[in-house]
Amino acid sequence: MTISVEGLAALAVEIQNGLSRSDRFNRMIGSIHHLLQCDATALLRYEAQHFKPLATAGLAPDVMGRRFKIEAHPRLEAIARAGDVVRFPADSDLPDPYDGLIPDRHELHVHACVGLPLFSGQNLIGALTLDGMNASQFDEYSDEELRVVASLVGSALNNALLLEQLEKPGYAFTPDARQSGGDSSEMIGESAPMQQLKKEITVVAPTDLNVLITGETGVGKELVAQALHQQSARAASPLIYLNCAALPETVAESELFGHVKGAFTGAVHDRTGKFEMADNGTLFLDEIGELPLALQAKLLRVLQYGDLQRVGEDRHLKVDVRILAATNRDLRQEVADGNFRADLYHRLSVFPLQVPALRERGADIILLAGYFCEKCRLKFGLQHIALSAATSNMLSHYHWPGNIRELEHAIYRATIVAQADARNGDILLMPHHFSLDNGAEVAEVMPIAETLPQQNLQDATRDFQRQYILRALQASDNNWAACARRLEMDAGNLHRLARRLALK
Ligand SMILES: Nc1ncnc2c1ncn2[C@@H]1O[C@H](COP(=O)(O)OP(=O)(O)OP(=O)(O)O)[C@@H](O)[C@H]1O
Ligand SMILES: [Mg+2]
Repeated sequence: MTISVEGLAALAVEIQNGLSRSDRFNRMIGSIHHLLQCDATALLRYEAQHFKPLATAGLAPDVMGRRFKIEAHPRLEAIARAGDVVRFPADSDLPDPYDGLIPDRHELHVHACVGLPLFSGQNLIGALTLDGMNASQFDEYSDEELRVVASLVGSALNNALLLEQLEKPGYAFTPDARQSGGDSSEMIGESAPMQQLKKEITVVAPTDLNVLITGETGVGKELVAQALHQQSARAASPLIYLNCAALPETVAESELFGHVKGAFTGAVHDRTGKFEMADNGTLFLDEIGELPLALQAKLLRVLQYGDLQRVGEDRHLKVDVRILAATNRDLRQEVADGNFRADLYHRLSVFPLQVPALRERGADIILLAGYFCEKCRLKFGLQHIALSAATSNMLSHYHWPGNIRELEHAIYRATIVAQADARNGDILLMPHHFSLDNGAEVAEVMPIAETLPQQNLQDATRDFQRQYILRALQASDNNWAACARRLEMDAGNLHRLARRLALK
């Protein structure tokens, strides 16, 4: 069997098909997966020493959230270095980055594996990986044929990357302008609320408006502040961080505005305040809701007039600072309660950005879980960390009061627990490795596979439906219409089902 010319032609046409970028990549990978009869296929983008999945077929959904650091994955490193088709011997000892990530197969020891590096001119821009369960299944494809596939996919990827750069507001177009950093401040998430947030960031970042970032604890407000700064014209100047909650009132003023030697007992040197440090750049005032009222007045004056005085000095200093502020409090309520100045609130919230809670981000939960699995794997030097199907299910339905920070900690903790019963660094995270807030309640729904046949299928299914609906209802504040939307059901059908299950 070789690759048919018709197949290649169809692929070439498919690649040109418009629609959205992710859709195009998904269709492209779908065609390749089918054309080459792979069991797992992935298109990866190369950026700052990492491979980042753009589309996959035959792999667990959390793979899309993983960022593969090249030096930590010998196979990917080999592909990145090769400059041409790489065929790994079926019995290769090199660990496969997808081991444990092909649904229903937790081991992938002997298999066919081919990597195709993708180039734009001399530059590596990505890779295509092909995995098959049958050790010899790619032998029939000649290097020549695989190169044709690689060059089709490579040019499609290159076009997509160039378009993406052109569409970025505020960026000068140079082929080398691709950001590096690889990067700890990437905002993972493709859900509708995240796409909306990213769009708003892109719109407001290049303006000089102050931004108030709100959202529950752990949703990623700090990352939003970093993104705003990085996408602004001030990106080359510093982003200065100040946590207002950690400021004792007595030192707060000199922290913000600086002081001169002798201004007060203990002021033995001149000191530059955060405002001055942030001159021409951005000042990020985290937990702004905790700022004492007296300082709010002083902050307001700087925002109004753009000048400040160091403590103990008469001279006024002019500063040009953009303010980003964040809080997990309801600042409007704080204003109503008299804890926060209304005039300052209005100055800061010229452009409010609300960061959505994790429970509202749907499939992002699994992307983020994958992202943290990969980070955790690196940190602990483990071979693999994969999520069992029951675990993915459990994580997807948990309500995450601590949001992304809680998810990150949950993955780390579960990995430590799971290490006890793992062999050779191969970790499969199961529901019982987690101790989520209402773990007991979650556990009764999820590990169906572990409590096999005590009931017939119909009763078990009804039980599951009952609990699942109750959970969704709870997460929707007992609003049946919202619950139906969450379950992607017609409200009338949900109503009937709920009656049949004796929930109504
Ligand atoms: N979209 C995301 N992708 C990847 N990591 C994220 C994302 N959002 C948040 N994180 C990570 O989750 C953790 C918590 O985020 P962050 O500190 O920004 O939360 P926060 O909103 O400032 O919370 P708090 O109000 O408690 O200060 C950080 O480690 C951050 O890197
Ligand atoms: Mg924070």
